[in-house]
Amino acid sequence: MRSPNSNILLGIDIGGTGIKGAPVNVKTGQLTQERLRIKTPQPAKPEAIAEVVEQIANHFEYSGPAGIAFPSIVKDGVIFSATNVDESWINLDAAKLFERHVGGPVTLINDADAAGIAEMRFGAGVGRKGVVILLTFGTGIGSAIFCDGVLLTNTEFGQLKIRGKDIEFRASERIRQKKAISFKKWADIIGEFLRELENLFSPELFLIGGGISKKADKFLPYLKAQSQVPIEACKMQNDAGIIGAATLAKIRS
Ligand code: BGC
Repeated sequence: MRSPNSNILLGIDIGGTGIKGAPVNVKTGQLTQERLRIKTPQPAKPEAIAEVVEQIANHFEYSGPAGIAFPSIVKDGVIFSATNVDESWINLDAAKLFERHVGGPVTLINDADAAGIAEMRFGAGVGRKGVVILLTFGTGIGSAIFCDGVLLTNTEFGQLKIRGKDIEFRASERIRQKKAISFKKWADIIGEFLRELENLFSPELFLIGGGISKKADKFLPYLKAQSQVPIEACKMQNDAGIIGAATLAKIRS
């Protein structure tokens, strides 16, 4: 379905709640068709998720190289953590598993790292030098850190302990909604997290992405009051993972 030199690659973003995919023009960072979202099967076991990945590829009549973003530590296609998916993923060569379902080579990357690649290349991080930290707020809290545009992979800042508890268990978007925490109160909690990151990494910019980013007007004013560092919302919102994964797949193909 695609020519070998095509700039249109399939991107898929696997999350704890939904699995989203679309073909991406990796030269422009645009989705070329409306994305498809399917609920993440529960329990989120490998075969069940791989079948959804195949469903997405079939929906777009796609076979060829694909980029897949996954909510875990990922090295060389292998999964090393499982906070929001089933534990049976740990140590699994997930890239190999997915390759059987999309009919082409699969580039696998942590979901927040994928979002970071998309934003640095096409979105809110374009041309930004120095240290840029992107944080995603969805089912969990994901992180990506860049220095002069270069990514340090698999950071897990969501696991930083703030007042004795992993910040992602206190203030991910899932927890905020579940506990009906107001954006003002949420910004107070996240402010401590941002100031901790400020002390450790002296960033030039924080980018906020993930499911929460579509409500930027509601939380950004509160969050900006918490930090000396400029804070902006991600431009690609919830499509950043799809776009970044497809872009990386093109770079690696
Ligand atoms: C995982 C990260 C992931 C983040 C966002 C966390 O629970 O540990 O690897 O990036 O959720 O999905």
